[in-house]
Amino acid sequence: VTAQTLRGDVAVLVPAAGAGVRLGPGGPKALRELAGEPLLVHAVRRLSVAPSVGQIVVAAPAGDVEAVCALLGPVAGVTVVAGGASRQASVAAALAAADPGFGIVLVHDAARALAPPELVERVAGAVRGGLPAVIPVLPVVDTIKQVDDAGRVVGTVDRAVLRAVQTPQGFRRDVLTAAHAAAVDEHTDDAGLAEKLGVAVHTVPGDEAALKITRPLDLTIAAAILGSATS
Ligand code: C5P
Repeated sequence: VTAQTLRGDVAVLVPAAGAGVRLGPGGPKALRELAGEPLLVHAVRRLSVAPSVGQIVVAAPAGDVEAVCALLGPVAGVTVVAGGASRQASVAAALAAADPGFGIVLVHDAARALAPPELVERVAGAVRGGLPAVIPVLPVVDTIKQVDDAGRVVGTVDRAVLRAVQTPQGFRRDVLTAAHAAAVDEHTDDAGLAEKLGVAVHTVPGDEAALKITRPLDLTIAAAILGSATS
């Protein structure tokens, strides 16, 4: 994946153990190919060129740890562990394997394979600047409705106060550790766990290239982003 040595002060946890059911048949999502390479390889390559990054811990599907090690190659600073039954469990497994010397920890979904290094730097820099928890966000373009069990509209949420949340999400290590230790139920992101603890979560601008590759059309969009990219 990378020839350079990781030298930064930040550990990045990469949950990559999802099945990818919404992407259709074809195995674990992080191992699906985009432009001839698995999504995970795209993700790890972009992380590894971000100057802040000093360690990458990938949580792979439990049966694919060796295959993922082979895929990523023997790169100093890259560790692969078995993921868990939920995203949260996969992040917890990766956190347990992160070198304790890193005081800043980012969590980045392998599914956001094209998140640019600049976004990693933006999030890491905000945590380094003193914020306990930082998430990249984008404005919401759709009108959002709340519905009941029958699918009937209950209300319209003012989208001006809503944000769509991406990864990497950045944390002071002690904050992320405490958030996971205190977790009682499943959250779809790590900031949600920090919020439960009463930690102030700050936002920085996200990046459209960091889209979550979830459904088949997302692969087409990602391919188009790659085709138009200069890097
Ligand atoms: O499930 P979702 O699409 O929200 O997954 C977001 C990220 O979490 C993906 O990168 C996926 O591989 C990862 N994940 C995981 N372990 C699971 C489920 C999802 O690492 N058990």
